[in-house]
Amino acid sequence: MTSNETLRSRPLPPGTLGLPLIGETLSFFRDRDFHKKRREKYGTVYKTHLFGQPTIVLIGSEANRFLFTHDNTYFTASFPPSTRILLGPNSLTIQSGTEHTSRRRLMAQAFFPQAIAGYLPGMEQLTDRYLKQWETLQELTWYPELRTYMFDIASTLLIGTETGSETIYLSQIFQTWAEGLFSIPINLPWTPFGKALHCRKLLLEKIEEIVHRRQQETAPRNDALGLLLAAKDEEGNGLSLDEIKDQVLLLLFAGHETQTSSLSSLCLLLAQHPQVITKLREEQEKVGFTGSLNMEMLKEMTYLEQVVKEVLRLVPPVAGGFRRVLESCEFNNYQIPEGWMVLYQINQLHKDSSIYSNPQEFDPDRFSLDRAEDKPKPFTWIPFGGGARECVGKAFAMLALRVFTAHLVHGYDWELLPDQNLEFSMIPTPSPRDGLRVKFSRRG
Ligand code: HEM
Repeated sequence: MTSNETLRSRPLPPGTLGLPLIGETLSFFRDRDFHKKRREKYGTVYKTHLFGQPTIVLIGSEANRFLFTHDNTYFTASFPPSTRILLGPNSLTIQSGTEHTSRRRLMAQAFFPQAIAGYLPGMEQLTDRYLKQWETLQELTWYPELRTYMFDIASTLLIGTETGSETIYLSQIFQTWAEGLFSIPINLPWTPFGKALHCRKLLLEKIEEIVHRRQQETAPRNDALGLLLAAKDEEGNGLSLDEIKDQVLLLLFAGHETQTSSLSSLCLLLAQHPQVITKLREEQEKVGFTGSLNMEMLKEMTYLEQVVKEVLRLVPPVAGGFRRVLESCEFNNYQIPEGWMVLYQINQLHKDSSIYSNPQEFDPDRFSLDRAEDKPKPFTWIPFGGGARECVGKAFAMLALRVFTAHLVHGYDWELLPDQNLEFSMIPTPSPRDGLRVKFSRRG
């Protein structure tokens, strides 16, 4: 612990706070090399000013260790106003302190190993259904299809919705809602924030309908909504309807937005690296996969896991995470003042050539047992964040990505159609600008 006087004598990190009020927010949105440029100029700890707040950006294994081990002491979760309002006051990501810890403990049960194994058959069934649908289309714009598929997986398996028109409706309003998450919070009918706020209302109405339907059922279910409905606090009271709705909204959002992004990156990267598909198929033959998976078989598919890890390294769906500084502290001899924001950055860390060789290359073998490039230092592969706020759905996400990849590669071929922009638009999560147009067919 450093005394207040010593702390105040420490310099602030280098960097600039930009213009009054808006700081550097506009360049943060517009310049995809925002962090790269500042990292080259100032190093791995620098100050900026985002969303109306002075902010210190932290990049690197040591910085992540510092932040993740001091969550809830020096730091607390914090989001830009648009995100906070759209997620709602009762959302796990917004909660802090003991409330966060107890809710997290509860929601984590939906992702314990036994629960995860229970999701596998349903995931395979849905995956099979969607793959067959895409086969009949022959040519498709994949991103919106992947979004509906992923939404179906999350809502059917975690909330128990009926697949079909309900899923499609929810998935569509979710998209407009998500587009407002990182926007200027001006509530007018034509602003992204205004449209998103309207969609939040529609989403909560629909979720309330689903909750009421579930409350009529006589036999409880073991999915995430089942846990929330059965939960009791220390005094034996159930969660309020408002809290259940916000938590369901969060699970549905977190359970499909990030996943859709990683699936589309995976489909694109595999199409561009056919040698990786060949190796995946060789592994499938070796473990005897003929179209139906079990947890043992998935464990044996180590190359499959490497591929998924590499996709999440190269194109992390979440670029970083914000925290508010609760108590002044220091890192690398720089002062981190109380009341400021801290942003840990994932993208830059994952492209660090002192950790990953040729970091811009798609190379799943970097995660093989002999190379294990992420192992020498902790917190160097952090697509799911870390510490007390690490992604609670990590095991579900990894399962969904592996199941999808296994079935896709086993049964199908796909080719990128010409004349399309394959660059990513980055907000709210990376997605191919033209939606990833492909020719899709069953393997001959
Ligand atoms: C938190 C990434 C899938 C639920 C997080 C965080 C990251 C992340 C980076 C931490 C943010 C921070 O530090 O502020 C991802 C990625 C996913 C994914 C890359 C897929 C590839 C999922 C899924 C679910 C989920 C499938 C649930 C079904 C959550 C929740 C939190 C969270 C509830 C908040 C945890 C807390 O505040 O304690 N996720 N996530 N995520 N994620 Fe995920």
